[in-house]
Amino acid sequence: MESELRELLDKIKQEIATAQNEYELNNAKSHALGKKSVLTELMKKLSTLPIEERPVFGKAINDVKREIESLLEKRAQEILDHQYTQTIQQDRVDLTLPGFVPETGSLHPLTSIWRDIEDIFISLGFDVVEGPDIDDEYHNFDALNTPPDHPARNEMDTFYFKQSPENPLDNRLLLRSQTSTVQVRTMEQHRPPLKIISIGRCYRNDKPDASHSPFFHQCEGLAVDKGITFGDLRSILNSFAVKMFGKEIRSRFRPHFFPFTEPSAEFDLICFNCYGKGCNICKNSGWLEIAGAGMVDPNVFSMLNIDPEIYSGYAFGMGIDRITMLKYQIPDIRLLFENDLRFLQQFR
Ligand code: PHE
Repeated sequence: MESELRELLDKIKQEIATAQNEYELNNAKSHALGKKSVLTELMKKLSTLPIEERPVFGKAINDVKREIESLLEKRAQEILDHQYTQTIQQDRVDLTLPGFVPETGSLHPLTSIWRDIEDIFISLGFDVVEGPDIDDEYHNFDALNTPPDHPARNEMDTFYFKQSPENPLDNRLLLRSQTSTVQVRTMEQHRPPLKIISIGRCYRNDKPDASHSPFFHQCEGLAVDKGITFGDLRSILNSFAVKMFGKEIRSRFRPHFFPFTEPSAEFDLICFNCYGKGCNICKNSGWLEIAGAGMVDPNVFSMLNIDPEIYSGYAFGMGIDRITMLKYQIPDIRLLFENDLRFLQQFR
């Protein structure tokens, strides 16, 4: 019986040692210790032995059983360790490889300037309001004191929607040609004191070239209160220029005409390129025009039921595209709207 045991142990040891995974090890275990195993058979035989042989043989069986159990445990751990090492090997990451930098988007230069302008005017005490891109002749022209025969009303200049019962000839719908529509809408809805800006898109029937686009952006400003003067207008626009371009910037006002302001002016900044000497960017004038402005015409106030004897106000309309071009020295307005990544990626 002892030799039988030794033989069994050798066989089992072999099976355990060659088990490559949990499944094979479980098989070895049931061969060694399972109900139908030789060991179990031997245990059963124990009772048939003469009584004095039983303790010796019983101990031998138990020793073998314990040895098998410890071998099984050891092998199980080996298998686990091996699998773990293998997993680590397979999933190994080479941390020295160059990484992938995810493409990040960034603000369009026009959006950055739009936000900067809003921040500057908010810091100067203005509220920010919005108006619709699609407006009508009343808000774009009539309420702004623009006579019926004014050239800007021409279809050659302004985009009108097709005439229809919803779009009657006496107040046609159009794509606003200026953000000054928002002046009117603000004064319709609110009583002075008012101090607002409104940035948005405008549309004109212009042939695209380096400085023209059929759509562009303006920042409208309006302040109405008792005792507002042209000096306030100058001071606000100068403060804006300094905050936007730094204290070295030089600016000037030139007399001009707008139907809805009196007196009216244009606001120029010194040319960033030649600093006043004259070059092709400023068409040799040394200056770049960035805004139209003036004191709100009493006729506009009267039309909107604000008493011009009590109130006065200023208004201005700045070209946002112009300011963006100045700020980033962009030579052609079309670059702003072509969505060319080679251009846009420079503003990351
Ligand atoms: N709306 C004018 C334009 O587009 C600019 C402007 C705004 C002038 C407000 C005076 C006051 O040219």
